[in-house]
Order: sequence, then C-alpha cells, then structure tokens
Amino acid sequence: MQRSEPIILGNNALGAPVFLAPMAGITDLPFRRAVARFGAGLLVSEMVASSEMVTPRPSTRAAVRAKALTEGALPVSVQIAGCEAAAMAETARIVEGMGARIIDINMGCPAKKVTGGLSGSALMRDLDHALGLIDAVVGAVDVPVTLKMRLGWDETCLNAPELSARARDAGVAMLTVHGRTRSQFYKGQADWNAIRAVADLPNRPPLVANGDIVDADSARRAFAQSGADAVMIGRGAQGRPWVLAQIAHQLWGTPAPVIPQGDALADLVSEHYEDILDFYGPELGLRVARKHLGWYAEANGAPLRAELLRAATPEATLALIRRAFTQTDTEAAA
Ligand SMILES: Cc1cc2nc3c(=O)[nH]c(=O)nc-3n(C[C@H](O)[C@H](O)[C@H](O)COP(=O)(O)O)c2cc1C
Repeated sequence: MQRSEPIILGNNALGAPVFLAPMAGITDLPFRRAVARFGAGLLVSEMVASSEMVTPRPSTRAAVRAKALTEGALPVSVQIAGCEAAAMAETARIVEGMGARIIDINMGCPAKKVTGGLSGSALMRDLDHALGLIDAVVGAVDVPVTLKMRLGWDETCLNAPELSARARDAGVAMLTVHGRTRSQFYKGQADWNAIRAVADLPNRPPLVANGDIVDADSARRAFAQSGADAVMIGRGAQGRPWVLAQIAHQLWGTPAPVIPQGDALADLVSEHYEDILDFYGPELGLRVARKHLGWYAEANGAPLRAELLRAATPEATLALIRRAFTQTDTEAAA
C-alpha cells in the first residue's frame, strides 16, 4: 500500500499513520506506555472533562490523571470535552501549559453522561454551538487543535461533512471520524465508506478513519473505502498493545515489532500490571488492572482468566500472570 506524506501537526511530524484512539478509563499513562514500547504514530490521552479541569479543587483522581496526560516519549494529543466555550478555552490553555503538543476536541462520545451535558457527540446536533467551542479553543492556544466526531447524530443527520468543512475553515488541523452515528453507540459495523464524504472535501486537513479496525486487513479496507490519510485504533489494541506497530509494518514495511510470546509476554503483562499499581496505588490499581488482564488473556488465548480476575493480592496476580502467559502462543491466537 502506498503511504502518503507524513502528517505534520504544528511542530509534530507524526510517525506511521496508525494512531491510538482516546478511550476514557483505558488509554491512561500505563496503557500508552505499553503501546509506545512497540510504536505508534500518535497517542491520544483519555478525555479530560473541562468541568473537571476548571474547578478550583479537582478531585485527587482527576489531578493524578491530569498530571500524567502529557508524559511519555511519543507525541500525545490531549483530548478535551465540554459544552461551554469559556471552560473549553481555559481547559485548552491549562493542558497546553502542561505540555500538550496537540489538543483534540471530543465530538464523538455517545455516553449519556457526556451528551446529556450537550458535549461529546451531542454537539453534532447543534453545529453553531459546536463551532463556537472550536473557535474558542483554536483561539486560546498555539498548539494544533484537532477534532474527533462521528458520522452524525443518527441516520437522518449525517452531518460529519458539514461539521468538517466548518472546522476546516475554523483552523482545525486534523479530523477523525468514527464511522458510526451517535444513535448506533457501538452497535453494528463502522461504515468506512460513509467517511469518504469528508475525504472528498476540498482543501481539507488530514483525515483519520476510525471504528472496528483491528488488523492489517481491516486497516487496508478502511483506508481504501474511506479515502482517509490515517487510521485510529481503540478496542483492537486492548490486550495487544503491539497491534498498531504490527499494522504499520504489514502495510508499509516499517520495522517489525517483536510480538512477545511465552515468557516475554508474561514480562510485558507483569510490567504493565505493576505500572498500573504504581500509577493508581494498590486499591484502585487492582480494579483498573483487572480489565487489562482480562483483555490480555482473551486476546492471547491465555488460560486461567477467571483466576486472574479473582486474584486478591499483587503477589498472587503476578504468579498467575507468569503461569498463564508463558503458556500462550500469540501468533497462533492472532
Ligand atoms: C471504553 C471506551 C471509552 C472511550 N472513550 C472515548 C473518549 O474519551 N473520547 C473519544 O473521543 N472517544 C472515546 N471512545 C471511542 C473510541 O475512541 C473509538 O472512537 C471507538 O471505540 C471506535 O473505535 P474502535 O472500534 O477502534 O474501538 C471510547 C470507546 C470506548 C470503548
């Protein structure tokens, strides 16, 4: 497959155009570190709610997460969400001050908690309001501002091309489209063909296609059907943090990641597990780690999944990780 010119956002020349999607509660610093070991063109942080950032006393958890937003070796884009222009502008300034090199605005999240406050994908029902937020954020910071959206609110309101054209005119540096409507939530299949209407816009910024891309074959089809310049991977990287580098290698011959198997996989999972405990502390860490352990077990065909999820202490968990993951053969499971 022909690789297009590298995408440049401000001072950031992005690597191979396979990006990690923002996932609240998942793409935290430990997970981004696990992905970064293998490589990715861009990592997007968890979403930061503007209401959380502009309060005088953010919760401890929010503060810990915020502190870690911009850490790491690879370029990290920090995603912000909200429904009020002044708070979004202020949040953008705060995260820029923390070192964000790119700021992404969330207009794709379908969660009622988010859309109820008229943010996330609900903004696609009111493009004038959405543009007010975009203008405020673009005007507030020097770093490039990007935008992530869905195809529209529902099948009667497929306005991603209109939002994209207006965002382009407002100075947005890159667009990401998840090929579903808000009313689909995560049901059905992402429609990469429908993203083409955005790809066909004249003078548009770089475009990223997202939704249900999990391997080189689906990435190839998503590129061909959408006409996008990059792909973004979310759930497909759970339990397989090497998948972005693997796709880039299979599509364009970038250096092949060494996909860990047996003892090496047990090492990777143990290190990710310990990183989670260090980052969140033992109590919250145990809970956060469980979902990642489940995904590692599922994606790599490891036994002892139920035992791993039940283990009550770090020592017991680490011993089980060693037993479970030394028995895997990732290539066979892939
Ligand atoms: C648990 C979870 C949390 C998510 N959080 C966010 C978020 O904070 N911001 C956002 O723009 N999208 C969020 N998404 C959507 C993903 O970025 C992505 O658009 C979607 O999962 C489709 O891509 P995939 O099929 O590769 O997972 C989330 C998805 C999941 C499953």
